[in-house]
Amino acid sequence: MLLDLGDLQVRSWRKLDLDALLRHANNAKIAANLRDQFPHPYTRRDAIDYLDFVRDQRPERAFAVQHNQEAIGGLGFQIGVDIGKVSAEVGYWISEAHWGRGFATRALSAISEWAFTEYKLTRVFALVFAYNAPSVRVLEKAGFQCEGVLRRSAIKNGVILDQLMYAKVR
Ligand SMILES: CC(C)(COP(=O)(O)OP(=O)(O)OC[C@H]1O[C@@H](n2cnc3c(N)ncnc32)[C@H](O)[C@@H]1OP(=O)(O)O)[C@@H](O)C(=O)NCCC(=O)NCCS
Repeated sequence: MLLDLGDLQVRSWRKLDLDALLRHANNAKIAANLRDQFPHPYTRRDAIDYLDFVRDQRPERAFAVQHNQEAIGGLGFQIGVDIGKVSAEVGYWISEAHWGRGFATRALSAISEWAFTEYKLTRVFALVFAYNAPSVRVLEKAGFQCEGVLRRSAIKNGVILDQLMYAKVR
């Protein structure tokens, strides 16, 4: 898969992304805002296992964000099942070295549009920790609407948190 956005691409993960993934993903500030399945420290073993896992997925549901020929972030979908199969959750991260350049917004906008068609969805949503202002901003810039607060719905690093439900529908 390849979405070419000029100086930015969203594409399939490759085995050769191992070193870049390790370099950019091993960051406590990134892990703190994602599910616990995104580890910290992010070890070489974690990176190898992740790349093996995503390459076997059918349909493909996790993608690299590439800039200057290097994987600098990731985006992934969890597609619902049964009556929820028209709905998918999206998650994303960008390397701290590249924050504030609009990369997450552009990548999220493009992959969401792609996902509606590719997975035959009517809804793409994201759950964001209520304090995560940069990610809230990304979602709003990418056209997602806030539908509400899921009060005390998550525990991260031992702290109970509110999450905001953001969604885009078609
Ligand atoms: C959230 C994240 C993906 C944003 O990536 P990015 O490429 O820097 O995002 P963008 O540059 O597209 O947009 C960031 C916006 O947040 C704004 N922002 C940054 N820090 C902010 C803060 N403390 N308060 C409010 N807005 C903030 C930026 O100014 C920018 O908005 P603008 O374009 O209006 O100026 C990145 O910080 C990240 O990977 N964080 C850790 C993982 C994470 O939170 N993932 C999302 C889970 S829901």
